[in-house]
Amino acid sequence: CMPRSPRARTSCVSVIPQECLNRQQALSVVQQMQKLLVAQEAAHLQAPCQAGVGSRLAVPIPTHACLSTEMCPQLAAPLNGRMLGRSLRVGHEVHFICDAGFRLVGSETRACRHNRTWSGTQPFCRSIDDCSSNPCANSGTCVDGNQSYTCLCPPGWSGPSCQTPGTLAPTISPCPSNRQPRCAEGRSGSRRCSCDTGFQLQPGGVCQDVDECQLYQSNPQTQICLHDCLNLPGSYRCLCPPGYLLHADRNACEDVNECAGKQHNCSQGELCINTFGGYRCVHPKCPPPRHNTSYVKTSCERNPCPMDSRACHLAASSISFHYLPLQANRTVPRVLFKMSTTRFVGDSLRFAITGGRGQGVFAVRRSDRQTGELLLTSPVAGPATLEVELEMSEFSHKVLLGKHIFKVTAFVSPYVF
Ligand SMILES: *[C@@H]1O[C@H](CO)[C@@H](O)[C@H](O)[C@H]1NC(C)=O
Ligand SMILES: *[C@@H]1O[C@H](CO)[C@@H](O)[C@H](O)[C@H]1NC(C)=O
Ligand SMILES: *[C@@H]1O[C@H](CO)[C@@H](O)[C@H](O)[C@H]1NC(C)=O
Ligand SMILES: *[C@@H]1O[C@H](CO)[C@@H](O)[C@H](O)[C@H]1NC(C)=O
Ligand SMILES: *[C@@H]1O[C@H](CO)[C@@H](O)[C@H](O)[C@H]1NC(C)=O
Repeated sequence: CMPRSPRARTSCVSVIPQECLNRQQALSVVQQMQKLLVAQEAAHLQAPCQAGVGSRLAVPIPTHACLSTEMCPQLAAPLNGRMLGRSLRVGHEVHFICDAGFRLVGSETRACRHNRTWSGTQPFCRSIDDCSSNPCANSGTCVDGNQSYTCLCPPGWSGPSCQTPGTLAPTISPCPSNRQPRCAEGRSGSRRCSCDTGFQLQPGGVCQDVDECQLYQSNPQTQICLHDCLNLPGSYRCLCPPGYLLHADRNACEDVNECAGKQHNCSQGELCINTFGGYRCVHPKCPPPRHNTSYVKTSCERNPCPMDSRACHLAASSISFHYLPLQANRTVPRVLFKMSTTRFVGDSLRFAITGGRGQGVFAVRRSDRQTGELLLTSPVAGPATLEVELEMSEFSHKVLLGKHIFKVTAFVSPYVF
């Protein structure tokens, strides 16, 4: 894992404190240890009973090892890990380490005993992310722990894996924020200690959890989560508000389309409109018959007018409904909607805002001879529902041929995403 750069939207969370070995240094230490062990074994084979040979090596050789040619059975390296030391002779030791992202479960060191059996148990390397199997049901958020996980359940679900209907307050089991450092004896006899990724060595000699959320989330320049950040021992996790799911990059939040997923309760005859962070059930209605004017119920097209009814001829010949989901605080000016007619028979079109509560933030303008557009003119802090009614009138030699009404509703999310 590379040190994170500001604004990097990756799942790489490692914070490498000054006291910790970097990857290069760690590799070189491992290589040195391997060389040391190989040299140690070679020295043993060449001069089996000269105890002095091993004296300049950091690891003392038990003298009884010199006397034995008896061997223990061959051992295997764990999957996703390595075994250091090759000698199977009585008195010798082998060591096990795991690859990055895995931790050792079982014996770190095994010794070949006098009765030609190995001490300890065969270790294995276990993936560090206990959440990798997605153990939380019903959109619960998984929090990785020490060989365990905790599910943060959405409202309406509870239980260890969020499988039980019913609401309980979400809880996180308290995790220790301090750990013991890993220490190794250096060649000169000095001790060198380091901490796991996400921990920082304190003057007292303990590894203290780095609170990545406190460190990075409050500053927009270094923000690591699009919405909320949860600090965990050694790492952090991003959280999203209801109606969003954590994006595969583990930092951003993605809107859930409740309408496509049938996760809505809109009744039959209602239209489901997906919005950022939720959905709305709408039921567009054509105006009731009035002044000899009536509309086709399904399309809101005007029925033919009685020949002599001026009121009917002046009424809109069509009414249409449009629903626009919008994020909060979008930059302006922004074109939200375009209108034109496919049956343009006159010589000019005029566009106007004729009503609606959202009048303060909208404007209408012509974009070409046959098209008008609705503009958002100032940012809207959600949540809000803004309605605006637009009229497009068609003229021929300054005589009104007909008009069309567009009823536009913008659903503004409480979030900017
Ligand atoms: C070998 O010796 C160890 C103690 O040195 C003992 O615990 C173990 O049970 C012995 N194993 C066998 C198979 O005798
Ligand atoms: C993880 O938990 C085990 C006990 O279940 C404990 O022995 C071990 O030290 C813990 N590891 C860390 C890194 O906290
Ligand atoms: C749909 O469910 C929400 C809560 O889940 C409720 O507030 C709303 O009234 C319901 N709508 C209908 C049309 O049943
Ligand atoms: C409705 O139509 C009738 C004739 O069809 C007409 O006499 C009357 O004036 C019309 N009403 C309006 C309000 O236009
Ligand atoms: C939108 O902008 C307003 C004013 O700048 C601010 O108070 C509000 O918190 C912003 N809303 C969001 C969701 O960022």
